[in-house]
Parts: sequence; structure tokens; C-alpha cells
Amino acid sequence: MTTATARAHPNIALVKYWGKRDEELMLPAAGSLSLTLDAYATTTTVSLDPSATEDRFVLGGAAATPGQTVQVTRFLDLVRARAGSAARADSSAHAVVDSRNEAPTGAGLASSASGFAALAVAAAAAYGLDLDRTELSRLARRGSGSATRSLVAGLGIWHAGDDDASSFAEPIEGPEMSMVIVTVDPGQKKVSSREGMRRTAATSPYYSGWVDSTARSLEEMSAACRAGDFTRVGEITESNALRMHAAIEACEPPIRYLRSTSVAVFDAVEQLRTRGIEAYATADAGPNVVVISRPAEAEAVAEHLADHGDVRIVGAGPGAHLIPTEESA
Ligand code: PMV
Repeated sequence: MTTATARAHPNIALVKYWGKRDEELMLPAAGSLSLTLDAYATTTTVSLDPSATEDRFVLGGAAATPGQTVQVTRFLDLVRARAGSAARADSSAHAVVDSRNEAPTGAGLASSASGFAALAVAAAAAYGLDLDRTELSRLARRGSGSATRSLVAGLGIWHAGDDDASSFAEPIEGPEMSMVIVTVDPGQKKVSSREGMRRTAATSPYYSGWVDSTARSLEEMSAACRAGDFTRVGEITESNALRMHAAIEACEPPIRYLRSTSVAVFDAVEQLRTRGIEAYATADAGPNVVVISRPAEAEAVAEHLADHGDVRIVGAGPGAHLIPTEESA
């Protein structure tokens, strides 16, 4: 196959990934756990073009920036190297990558996760590689850490691993939950997660505490998931997110992803709990807040938070997968 199309969804981490042990291999400092969503898909078509002299990356119908194109080329180089060692025809061909995001890029809704997960699946197929989910998860990791988890449907755990082979995501059982995404600011984030992670590791006095406590939170979270304990899952989610932001805010120069509008959502969620509605908040490297709740209470949570921004209820979605190329047109 020289053209392939894949679809992937972003995921929201309940135990966050923030910090790398190995930048080249993209090995994380600690494992993480997330829910792959059923919304905000990325659909990506990779078409090999043996006559082209460079890769082309079209994002949302327009030529991507040179920086974005370099990232895609580096990723395709990994796929080409693999296809070359598997002696595939066309293994050195350049490609046209056409990608569409249903979520605003860079707003902290993890379009890098769905983007690289879709690219991994489409590129592997276009270059003729037959990879299983674990291998695709490892490949997606090289593009963006959070993409590792978007290969998995629903709840997925990304094992930190010791090396390239052992650092991948796999499914984990857990309680049913909905997520209410509260978009308080749809703009681009100011500091990329790559730069934010580097700065946190290099300058935050809380970085080692963050890494150690995340490894413990992941163990506790896995146990709570397996036990179907929604309350404990929610409690760990909220404290893990606040610990991540505390470590980030302690950088020099400081980085603050949360705005006052974000903190107001955390306050409103606490208020919901005092009224007996179990909801717990988390936030990635941006100002938007994601609130987890039991599915039956998601509407009430969304209604309570509607004054704070755009609200959207989402649930568990599929892992990254191939689709017929015509469907993307
Ligand atoms: O892999 P990246 O660059 O998308 O970083 C993801 C970082 C967070 O979204 C903040 C946390 C996470 O685990 O998804």
C-alpha cells in the first residue's frame, strides 16, 4: 500500500506524563495513565511520492509551518529506516502527509497525541510495515509522548519502561466515566510541552518530588482502576494534576499554564462535590480544564460549569486505527 489513512483521538491523562528520561528515545521519567476520547479526532493520509525531493505536510488544508514539517520528516525518517531494514520497495520515498484536526491545535487538548498516533498508523501502513498495537504505540511515542497512549481504546497505561522495547501503552480496565471539557481559552499555549518539560527538569526544585510521587500515584491509580473505584480515581486525578502544575510553576523563569479562569473551574468543581456530585478536575499544558464525572452526572456537571467557557461532554473512544482512504475526503 502506498497510500493509507488513519484516524486517532486525543487522550486526557489522569496520571500525567511530564518529563523525559531520554529525549532521543522519548522515554518518560515516569509512567502515566489516560482515557482516549471519542471526540476531536485527527484524520491523516500518508501518500508516498517517489518523485518528490522532500516531504510535504498539509495541516487543515494549508501548508504546515517549516517547524511542523521538520517534525513530520523526522518521524517519517524513523518509519523509512524501519521499512528499509525490512527491504520494502519505496522505503526511501518522500511522502505527502495530509492531516485534519477536529480540535484547535495547541490549545492543550493534546492534538499532538492524536496527530502522531494517526501519523504512526498511516505511515507504517503506507510504507508497508505490518506492526501490532504495541509496536505502533512505541513508534507513536517517538513523535510525542502522549501519542503513545492514543493507540489504546479507552483507559490506557503507558509503562515508563527501561528502553525502547518496554515503553508502550496497553489497555487497563476501569470505572465508567465521562469527561466534561471546559474550554476557557481556545488560543495557542505559550510554552510548548517539550520546552516546559525541559525547564521543569532543569530548574524546578520540585521536579524529583513530582517524578517520585507520580510513580506512586500510577500504582495507586492502576489499583483504583482495576477495583472500579471511581472516587479514588477522581481524587488521584485531581491531586496529580495539581502536583504537575505546582512543579511547573516553580520553574525559573516560571511557567503558568493555568489562568484565573482555569482556577475558577477547579473552585466550581469543589463546590459540586460539597453538593454531593462527584466531579474532579485536571488540566494539561494549557488553560483548559477537563472534569471527570460518572456518566449519569455529566449533564449536571456540564450545566454547572457552562458559565466558565465552552463545555463539551466526551467519553471513551477507540484507539488509533486505519480507515478506508476515501472516507477522509
Ligand atoms: O507528549 P506531549 O508533548 O503531548 O506532552 C503531554 C503533556 C501533558 O498533556 C501535559 C500530560 C499528558 O500526560 O498528556
